[in-house]
Amino acid sequence: MIISINDAIEGMVLAENIYSSDGISLLRKGAILKNSYIENLKENDVKNICIDNESFNKISVEGLVKSATSKEAIIIAKKIINRLPFSQEKNIKEIIFIKEKIIDELLSEKEILKNILNMKTIDNHIFNHCVNVSVISIIIGKSLGYNKEELIKLGKGAMLHDIGKIFIPLEILNKPGKLTKEEYEIVKKHTTFGYEILNKISGVDEELANISLSHHERYDGLGYPNSLKAGDIHEFSSIVAVSDVYDALTSDRIYRKKVKNEEAVEYLFNMKWKQFDGNIIDKFIESVASYSIGRKVILNTGERGIVAEGNKGVPTRPIVKINYDQYNNEIKKPYYIDLLENKSILIENTFN
Ligand SMILES: [Fe+2]
Repeated sequence: MIISINDAIEGMVLAENIYSSDGISLLRKGAILKNSYIENLKENDVKNICIDNESFNKISVEGLVKSATSKEAIIIAKKIINRLPFSQEKNIKEIIFIKEKIIDELLSEKEILKNILNMKTIDNHIFNHCVNVSVISIIIGKSLGYNKEELIKLGKGAMLHDIGKIFIPLEILNKPGKLTKEEYEIVKKHTTFGYEILNKISGVDEELANISLSHHERYDGLGYPNSLKAGDIHEFSSIVAVSDVYDALTSDRIYRKKVKNEEAVEYLFNMKWKQFDGNIIDKFIESVASYSIGRKVILNTGERGIVAEGNKGVPTRPIVKINYDQYNNEIKKPYYIDLLENKSILIENTFN
């Protein structure tokens, strides 16, 4: 079970290795927590940990990215945060190399989706965002029938889509309040900055650099930097636009709290053919966001069950077979709740 470090208590058993943001191993899987360990983890800015809890259905912590690769990627992400000179080709090439390893692991993994949420526990915001956007983009690309070469290009571009932000002052990027018009204009420049950086590096494909340039363009022409419309936006950029917004909405930010998965999906669903290409939204919902049959869910009523049947066109509101009541008692005769007919009932969470 993934819990906040603030909820950790002495005696809990770790179900996953913990690394610091610079990739140093802090504690091993199987370690029994002591108060001094918990304090040490907090000092190292670890936000969440995965504990072994028999009374819960254990969440699979074997993520899609092997921990050794995650560790290397965290070191790279740290470099991004520390703003090492990215004019040096070596640093960008290092990111691209690690990305290739991650993509290889992603492509060989069958059960990708269930692990996306687990990945959010890796304690590094930028790394999380880059990897999540990349993972989601690859899944959408796969469902669009892309070949491996295309998926690798899309995945790399998605990983580097926000690289231009290294030139945006941190005071603006981390500002807790609303940006002024001038500040927003500066933030918008991360698209052209990213394109320029990537374009300078030999061996970086134009299509890849273009993702950085165009991931804030919108289907209705109201995006930036070039107000491109519909078919003028490269499909790679349209995919990354959807993944970027989905991941941004479902992650905490300095200026706002994350929204629930189904709220983010409903938002994207409502923006079909407005902000986003409807075909890509459909593929996204079908492949990433829908609750597949058999998925274990907890409802906001406290009842637990499994998804028995999907409601076509409304992916966040399937029919759920309830087998545990709100007091966690197993129900002898399970019953069904159709979330499309019971609008006040929502899926609160999923578990494996
Ligand atoms: Fe961006």
